[in-house]
Amino acid sequence: MKSKLIFYILILDSFFFTGLLFYFDVKWYLAVLPLLVLFIIIPIASFNIQLNFFLKSIHNGNPDGNKTALTFDDGPHPVYTSQVLDILQKFNAKATFFLIGQNVKQYPYLVKRIVDEGHTIGSHSFTHSKTIDFKHTKGWLRELEETDLEILKITGKKVYFFRPPFGVTTPHLASALKKTGHLSIGWNQRTYDTVLNDVGKINRKIIKNARPGDIILLHDRHENIITLLEQLLPELARKNFTFVTVNELIDEKPYTEI
Ligand code: NI
Repeated sequence: MKSKLIFYILILDSFFFTGLLFYFDVKWYLAVLPLLVLFIIIPIASFNIQLNFFLKSIHNGNPDGNKTALTFDDGPHPVYTSQVLDILQKFNAKATFFLIGQNVKQYPYLVKRIVDEGHTIGSHSFTHSKTIDFKHTKGWLRELEETDLEILKITGKKVYFFRPPFGVTTPHLASALKKTGHLSIGWNQRTYDTVLNDVGKINRKIIKNARPGDIILLHDRHENIITLLEQLLPELARKNFTFVTVNELIDEKPYTEI
């Protein structure tokens, strides 16, 4: 893999020149520079899912037509998920929900409702813990397999889509996904709906940037999402957008054969 190779070359390069420093009169920066580059490259590559550096994700769909995909992360939530589903129903909108395994376990009736109403579900890890991105391949595999199992128990479906928590990607996650065969789904519109409080401002930005084929990142775990959707959906519908699942937008199957 290209990214891993760069990574190892930079590390070897640093060791090589550090070694030479002790024996020969080599410029010190030749040893430090690769390490510096490494420390700059890794965070940038990890935090920018759109760079596809450690693993390839899908960030948008077919730009022809008028389809757009709303995606909701971190649910199901006992208060907000059902309200989100009510609004989607009102506007005849379909969406994709990236579920956290431990929430799935706690609120199976919400998972059932999401699927019954024609929306798509995908995995968003089991714990979504703050330190999840330090996990090695084995830890990631557990996150992925446990979530798959919980969803399978409730719906009889094996999910194909996975959204990396925090949008962070690492070589360990990449190798885990290679083993499980999940498809990583990113986004091309990040709304920051969990951190910004001004719903009007968030919506103006989404509407201004809206293009056919968009995958829009939202969350169904906070109060503002209700007002946000009630204002956003009619506005986008007025601009002729229709709301479809990610699988319809990218023409993929959302579930795999068991
Ligand atoms: Ni999340």
